[in-house]
Amino acid sequence: MLTCAGATGPAEALLGAIEHGVVGVRGERIVFVGEAAALPAGAIGPGTQLVDARGGFVGPGLIDPHTHVVFAGERADEFELRCQGKSYLQIAQAGGGIVRTVRATQDATVAQLVELALPRLRRLFRQGVTCVEVKTGYGLSVDAELRMLDAIAELRRVQPVRLVSTLLPLHALPKSYVDRRAEFVALMRDELLPRAAARGDVTFCDAFVEQSAFTHEETRDVLGKAKALGFKLRLHVDQLTANQGAQLAAELGAVSADHLEQIDAAGISALKAAGVVPVLAPTSTLFAKVRPFAPGRALSDAGLGVALCTNCNPGSSNSENVSLAMGLACLENGLTPAEAYLGFTRWAAAAIADPERGRLQVGGPADLAVYAAPSYRELPYHLGMNDVRAVVCRGRLTDFEA
Ligand code: NIG
Repeated sequence: MLTCAGATGPAEALLGAIEHGVVGVRGERIVFVGEAAALPAGAIGPGTQLVDARGGFVGPGLIDPHTHVVFAGERADEFELRCQGKSYLQIAQAGGGIVRTVRATQDATVAQLVELALPRLRRLFRQGVTCVEVKTGYGLSVDAELRMLDAIAELRRVQPVRLVSTLLPLHALPKSYVDRRAEFVALMRDELLPRAAARGDVTFCDAFVEQSAFTHEETRDVLGKAKALGFKLRLHVDQLTANQGAQLAAELGAVSADHLEQIDAAGISALKAAGVVPVLAPTSTLFAKVRPFAPGRALSDAGLGVALCTNCNPGSSNSENVSLAMGLACLENGLTPAEAYLGFTRWAAAAIADPERGRLQVGGPADLAVYAAPSYRELPYHLGMNDVRAVVCRGRLTDFEA
């Protein structure tokens, strides 16, 4: 069993391995974590449901800390163009990219958005993911952004995976605002933010800091107000071009800085000094054909816990594959398998500012994954495959082999 709650030391120590471990659950909480031999007498009664991992390992439910799973439409033709040599930016400049998904999402009803997102969440759940961060950012009008939040709220009601929502008002500039940037920024800041804050169900506010998206100044303006309204912050930075975005994330006191393919040494130091969690999205580096892959090794060597995500979205990462993300993190970002596993557990929990998740501890949420594989090493190694046998989410068992 891996608790991911080891106190200090290298990644392997942080995994907190317990041989012949037992985790006891009552209701939605964990009530025992330890060796089988330490289980108190009488802990197992006639009503106890026993689950034997049968030589596989057990760990915390995984967390996907950066996704865009609520969207309508698809962009398979853009994938084809990239295969023919067009870049993600060239496609966006020619009228494709985020704004295309915005059009499709604006045309969808809340019920349609929910129907479309459900199978994506189911695919994540099937791989042991029990908590997912979900962004807006494909609405980009006050009403459409609020409808995306309604869809996330409805998804919370109809399926078990816990959802952490992020408002992403600065994702792309809608075409109709090309000559009125300041108006769009003011609309998001003055009308959308207060209405989203008043709902009480949105944790984070986010921005895409990029030449083709929003500037430092625009981001400071909107996210500064978001912070004052009580949102925690996270940022898409240094993805397609180097833009000192990591430094901006540090300056704004963001919880996480995501992507980071183009981060420099000063950016790494800034994240470390400010305690910002780096979130890498290796499937989107691959899928969007961005190079280089983010410097996971240097981030980890600087003493940062590196979180990983699928970044599931129709444009830059049409994938819900956790094993592939872990495998690429090892092969291309330079992480070890232990670091990659912590990237979807302990460090992913830090990236959503919810440190009680992503680890097994008494009093913590009863969210677990039971693997057929004997070791976490199989997850990146069995590339793109799924070795999850069962999931416990909110204390309820789903046995995929039953
Ligand atoms: O996280 N970087 C910006 N946003 C998404 C891409 C969304 C899209 O292409 O639709 C991302 O990669």
